[in-house]
Amino acid sequence: MARVELERVNKIYRGRGIEVHAVRDLSLTVEDGEFVAILGPSGCGKTSTLRMIVGLEDITSGEIRFDGERVNERGPEARNVAMAFETYALYPTFTVFENLAFPLEVRGLERARIEREVREIARLLEIENILDQKPGQLSGGQQQRVSLGRALVRDPAVFILDEVMSHIDAHLKFRMLFELKRLHQRIGRTMIYVTHDQIEALALADRVAVMSNAELQQFGDRDALYNRPANRFVADFIGEPATNFFTARIRREGEELLLPVEGTELVFRPDAERRKALERFSGNEVVVGIRPQNLTIEPVAESERIEAQVDIFEYLGEMAILALRSGSELFRALASPRQRMEPGTRLSLHYRREDVMLFDPASGVFLA
Ligand SMILES: Nc1ncnc2c1ncn2[C@@H]1O[C@H](COP(=O)(O)OP(=O)(O)OP(=O)(O)O)[C@@H](O)[C@H]1O
Ligand SMILES: [Mg+2]
Repeated sequence: MARVELERVNKIYRGRGIEVHAVRDLSLTVEDGEFVAILGPSGCGKTSTLRMIVGLEDITSGEIRFDGERVNERGPEARNVAMAFETYALYPTFTVFENLAFPLEVRGLERARIEREVREIARLLEIENILDQKPGQLSGGQQQRVSLGRALVRDPAVFILDEVMSHIDAHLKFRMLFELKRLHQRIGRTMIYVTHDQIEALALADRVAVMSNAELQQFGDRDALYNRPANRFVADFIGEPATNFFTARIRREGEELLLPVEGTELVFRPDAERRKALERFSGNEVVVGIRPQNLTIEPVAESERIEAQVDIFEYLGEMAILALRSGSELFRALASPRQRMEPGTRLSLHYRREDVMLFDPASGVFLA
């Protein structure tokens, strides 16, 4: 069992006169048995964070606690953490079976049980057919599955997984995400899963910690990240295609506040709750965010309308992306591929007032 707490953790790499502040004042609590993903673009400090939790990297300042006990000074062996990294070295002279069996042998399990557990994890990761091969004979994706398997056969307090599916093709990845989620539900262990892929993060985790530039931006569940993003970065990073942003100057019209976007025909209307948040900005600029999913071609209940022109119609699997233009602004909406539209077509798009997100233009902070 383990609850993992990070309190104002910093990591600064120093060398030859250069300093890299890789993790800045990170505070985060992962509850016992929780599945948390750390999500963010390349270089934002995800791996550094994990390496400090595992004990492979010194903490420059701050404290890490397992079940309330400080572990800063404990080595990896003393932390009871199982980890799999994107490029975790497998024992090259061992077969896949032996690689998977090794952590169980170290624990002194009897032969029949080792056999059973290795087969079980191999079935889960679809590597039963390569159990007799050596790592050198495997593809990148296969090696990655073996290294994930070697972490999963252990019985630690915490699992730490870093980009463990980056070389696995999309089709298999979907099945593995599902299996990993099921495994977590069955064993109920604390899991921390690092990825730069929001689909993986949102599919697996109870809560997602979004990082950028060495700092935590938001820690929340899917609903919070989608509907109440802490700032513009999160609104942009979460969701595919990304949120549309416009700069609008707030205009009062009787009881209403209107958000006309300069250089376009677009005018957004916020709902009553958002109007309140805008009062103190009246006459100023504000950033309006609206997700492509929330701009529909068919009217929805109590929807508002904007007009635009089709720029490009692009297929994306089962959906199509409509690239739209209004004056100087380009933005996107989702459509069904059956709705095929020629460039230049003018159309109305509908949105609900509550789906209009507002951000401070200077700081990017979410207003409402
Ligand atoms: N050993 C090191 N020495 C110096 N700088 C390092 C070291 N390890 C990482 N860094 C730097 O720290 C920052 C964070 O790196 P980190 O590996 O934690 O990012 P990441 O989020 O895991 O990125 P990726 O998605 O590419 O794996 C980067 O600027 C990186 O160059
Ligand atoms: Mg990394």
